Amino acid sequence: MQILNFLVLCVFHFFITLKHRTFAKNVNFNNVRPPADPTPFPNSFKCFTCEKSSDNYNCNRWAEDKWCPPNTHYCKTVHHFTTHGKSKSVTKKCATRVECHNVGCRHHRDSGHMECISCCDGMICNVDVPTNHTNAIFNVQRSHRKSDAHRVTALIPTMLLTTWILFIL
Ligand SMILES: *[C@@H]1O[C@H](CO)[C@@H](O)[C@H](O)[C@H]1NC(C)=O
Repeated sequence: MQILNFLVLCVFHFFITLKHRTFAKNVNFNNVRPPADPTPFPNSFKCFTCEKSSDNYNCNRWAEDKWCPPNTHYCKTVHHFTTHGKSKSVTKKCATRVECHNVGCRHHRDSGHMECISCCDGMICNVDVPTNHTNAIFNVQRSHRKSDAHRVTALIPTMLLTTWILFIL
């Protein structure tokens, strides 16, 4: 009985694949235009990117608007400022998880300034600069939970289909 179920599933999948193929043949790909700003790969995102700008305004104002490379998953911000809170340097970039291990605030001995580092995930999430231990954090809220939920959602049609096929047998 189990083998029979499996065979029927195979045949079913075969027909579905065949149907998709026929459909693809009829599509005129010359008429299919890519969207204005195509995402280069799944889960791609952008970060504000600048190197040692004088402050946050000048960083964001001139920040490059480009996609992050596939090995990065976060946006990182490094903020140097005086003890009076005046910005001295702002650097923003796409970052790997390892590059985000040193988030937080500390006294930067070389420059005599305070240094706060923050990371976040999500499209252009590094708008602000970190100024104290409350915002100099690794702020992850989007991609992982969302992709897990997405995976479960994607499974539901397959599960329903399988249940249905087993039911009619
Ligand atoms: C941290 O900085 C933010 C933004 O400048 C401010 O609103 C908040 O009150 C500060 N928190 C502490 C604990 O100083």
